[in-house]
Amino acid sequence: MSTTVVPRRTTTPGPKGSQAAMRLGLLLRDPLAGYLSLSARYGDAIRVPIGPRQSLFLLSRPEHAEHVLATGQDNYVKAFTYRPLRVLIGDGLLTAEGEQWRRHRRIVQPMFSRRDVRNFASPMAEATGQLLKEWGALAPGTELDVAARMSALALDIVGRALFSTDLTGEAAQLNRAMAASQKVALLATFLPLSYGPRSARVLKAVARRTGHSTEGIEGPVGRMISDRRREASPAPGRRDLLDVLMTARFDDGTGLTDTEIGDELATFMLAGHETSAVTLSWALALLAAFPAARERLEAEVDEVLGGRAPQAADADRLPWTTAVITETMRLYPPAWTIERDALADDDVAGVPVPAGSTVAVPPYLVHRHPEFWSDPAGFDPARFLPPAGRPVADRPRYAYIPFGGGKRACVGQSFAELETVLVLASIAQRFRLELTPAGIPKPTAAITLRPGRLRMRLLPR
Ligand code: HEM
Repeated sequence: MSTTVVPRRTTTPGPKGSQAAMRLGLLLRDPLAGYLSLSARYGDAIRVPIGPRQSLFLLSRPEHAEHVLATGQDNYVKAFTYRPLRVLIGDGLLTAEGEQWRRHRRIVQPMFSRRDVRNFASPMAEATGQLLKEWGALAPGTELDVAARMSALALDIVGRALFSTDLTGEAAQLNRAMAASQKVALLATFLPLSYGPRSARVLKAVARRTGHSTEGIEGPVGRMISDRRREASPAPGRRDLLDVLMTARFDDGTGLTDTEIGDELATFMLAGHETSAVTLSWALALLAAFPAARERLEAEVDEVLGGRAPQAADADRLPWTTAVITETMRLYPPAWTIERDALADDDVAGVPVPAGSTVAVPPYLVHRHPEFWSDPAGFDPARFLPPAGRPVADRPRYAYIPFGGGKRACVGQSFAELETVLVLASIAQRFRLELTPAGIPKPTAAITLRPGRLRMRLLPR
């Protein structure tokens, strides 16, 4: 087994034999450290053998990402590493391919347009109001696990906005299932038996054996569908994701099956809350570590909102708050890696990629590429403020890919952008969170880039 740098502009021999195996071991144990150390040592196009005839290409330039996700996207499908996810969320939008994916995307996309997500500002504000009320009742200096609270908040928002359902009672159960899923999914990625048609069965067995039941997602999903089916007539004025999925009709007059609806609900529950929650957690941690950025955010929020709760239209009037979120996702992209399998031989911006290879274009690496980002490890939201007289910053579009790109780009991007800005502004209006001496946690690369427990002290402003 050898790890070699793909001959691109220069050829650098990589390590051989046991050294390469050690590097693969590091990639499995600590993917972030592994990715960073490999790319620092071997550059932006690295081939890591991961099987007798299979290689993982680790590509970290914007032009690589652009090719794989957009211009050359027809040659790529979701990588084998996404298969374990199907045990948890079935064949929803995130994991489906081909015609099924296209038909479902067409159904849900309209309600997630930049304009239409504004309809979700009210449920977002209601859920956040609940959090502020709870925090308002706590003694100044109370220590909280902010990551757990952001996760519950984001789930509450998804429940209210997409399913008109109160998921708060299920938060603990769902979070346990999701945390378990993340562990099982990561473990299963590297179990050869977990690929292929029997993957669901194998993974469920792995989950049970390791005490990580993933069944907590199925209960609430089934309940939501049967409750809605039992409704005598739809609630007036309601048109949530559940309604959209249940009333959709294809050209031949058929609709989605209950299994298909259930898979989409599980997908949106997972994809729609976990990513926003970790973004908010990292943003709060970074603001505590960089007081000048926090003071500027507080000043902006006070000036623009003058004490009232933010509404959808305010999001465009909070450029610093937005820049803080944008810079947070640069440093800690919730979807830290994006992976595809190549269908045919390809040339990815100068890198020869054989058919069957797995290609990773990790936002975590692309966002820290020193050629495109000055002080790549620094926290500097100002880099995302439009330079005076120019509409956009001078960097390639695919240098920043927290939401992916091409046809499989995040359908919830506008939802997430609105949600994270409104929630951060609402919290900053009333509270300051301070880090404990433990500081900013080391990120854990599970399905998302998680802070684990994030202990912070809550202070009123
Ligand atoms: C900060 C928050 C978020 C981030 C960083 C994020 C990131 C991403 C990324 C990178 C992908 C593409 C994955 C790939 O190409 O393999 C994706 C897909 C997806 N996201 Fe998000 N996401 C966020 C929030 C949301 C929200 C709020 C929702 C739903 C309301 C959502 C629903 C989805 C779905 C359904 C897909 C699959 C889309 C498809 O393939 O058609 N995401 N997300």
